[in-house]
Amino acid sequence: GSLQMYVDLLPQMPKIYGYSMEGGSPKPVKLTIGMYEKKWQFHRDFPATTVFVFGVGADTATFPGPTIEALQGVPLRVTWQNYLPARHILPWDPTITVAVPPHGGVPTVVHLHGGVHPPQSDGNPSAWFTADFRDTGPKWTQYTYTYPNVQNPGNLWYHDHALGLTRANLLAGLLGAYVLRSPSVEASFGLPAGDEFDRHLIIADRSFYADGSLYMNATGDNPSIHPEWQPEYFGEAVTVNGKAWPFLTVRCRRYRFRIINSSNARYFNLSLSNHLPFCVVGSDTAYLNKPVMTSTVLLAPAEIFDVVIDFTKSTTSEAELINSAPYPFPNGTATNRLNGKVMKFVIGRESAPDNSRIPKRLVRYPRADEREATVKRYITFYEYDSATEKPTHLYINGKPLLDPATETPRPGNTEVWEVINLTQDNHPLHLHLANFQAARVQQLANATAFLNCMTVHGDAVKCNITGQAIGRLLAVPEHEKTWKNVVKIEPGYMTTVVVKFKLVDTNATYPFDATAEPGYVYHCHILDHEDNEMIRPLKLIN
Ligand code: C2O
Ligand code: CU
Repeated sequence: GSLQMYVDLLPQMPKIYGYSMEGGSPKPVKLTIGMYEKKWQFHRDFPATTVFVFGVGADTATFPGPTIEALQGVPLRVTWQNYLPARHILPWDPTITVAVPPHGGVPTVVHLHGGVHPPQSDGNPSAWFTADFRDTGPKWTQYTYTYPNVQNPGNLWYHDHALGLTRANLLAGLLGAYVLRSPSVEASFGLPAGDEFDRHLIIADRSFYADGSLYMNATGDNPSIHPEWQPEYFGEAVTVNGKAWPFLTVRCRRYRFRIINSSNARYFNLSLSNHLPFCVVGSDTAYLNKPVMTSTVLLAPAEIFDVVIDFTKSTTSEAELINSAPYPFPNGTATNRLNGKVMKFVIGRESAPDNSRIPKRLVRYPRADEREATVKRYITFYEYDSATEKPTHLYINGKPLLDPATETPRPGNTEVWEVINLTQDNHPLHLHLANFQAARVQQLANATAFLNCMTVHGDAVKCNITGQAIGRLLAVPEHEKTWKNVVKIEPGYMTTVVVKFKLVDTNATYPFDATAEPGYVYHCHILDHEDNEMIRPLKLIN
């Protein structure tokens, strides 16, 4: 049966402050945040669900976890503690490269997505640990992570990153938002502020069994090869801040929403049913140069947009947040009337006091300039088939994660990554540490011929990529033209991505050793792809 929509109030996740104001000025703190198994009510009329979630204690742990508020220039240290039980609540697959702890338990490791921090604090997939750090992965080095918060103000999130288990651990609930604020940069903008008017919408699709437990198909797509791995997880219900199809009563004024797509594989093409526009002010890593009005925003998994909605412009008393993205994106034919709806805003009639505004300009970051690049790399996504098994792994450049690093940038440099997608699906490219943006998106003349060549030679240059990338150009939407940490990679196209291995607002390099072990990673952020090896090391060198 289906659940009644718009009966649960949109929750606000609890906040944790990554600094202390004792003595009047911000001071660094050290936090301890745990991962707990507990019950979570996703809907008024639905049995409670067992989840794995973050919190400062089991009682206050939530799905998604607490929102961490950090301040630019104030470093934050966090000890992530695993209190999870001996067995996972979801299926996992021993035929993909996966953490298997000798003493049982649930391997976890936390990554601050979008963070500019040392590699030892990055949450390398092989730096996993189980409850009480009883077992640790081969790249585990330390209990406490440091987030220097030296970067631009922006919208980050934290989530599990354990080897071969990321899709199951996030599905279970190991994710939460992280905001990095810079009062000196942001105060003059005058955007809607405060807990009531500056909020997160953390979207995640989930399916459930009738008894309330999370449903994840435990029969693999191709069971003789991968008994339990599925190429993409798509849930029937759409949850926002941990409630299925919630509603929010808003006053007749402006609100700021930081929208995070924390789904495993589902894209969301969002719009409002009453045609109110979104005023996009920022993305994941950075603000836009100036606000951009748009009627739709397309969010890949892990992508974030920071928008203002002006409800005074509404001609209706309600507005549904709706989703028109097909799945798999963009060529899937699957549609489902349930996940075409996300949540509902109930709009107050009386005009409410509002001294917020939309500024003319936001932040002027250095532009993406291909000419600054000292290195060009070709990164090709294609399904890796062996003669006997099909498909085995979704390798990047035909290489597994644990093969030695081939992407070895120098701190401070700018590179061009030509990302070639020979699959049927769009893939959200995510690099740890770096800031990047798409500069050009150009269709391949003959993707099938190019794929055949790549299957034999595995080398984009040998396969004459420059003679191939000559087709039609796709425009990058205005509101995606900023420094980002997720870029959507269109199938059948080559996307030219300008990547900066330095802090984009100051042009400075990192105030820590980015070349240290265990290095970083880059990957597709469809978690089912990432777990089945659409992920590679990113090792900075001097
Ligand atoms: Cu959002 Cu490598 O992760
Ligand atoms: Cu992918």
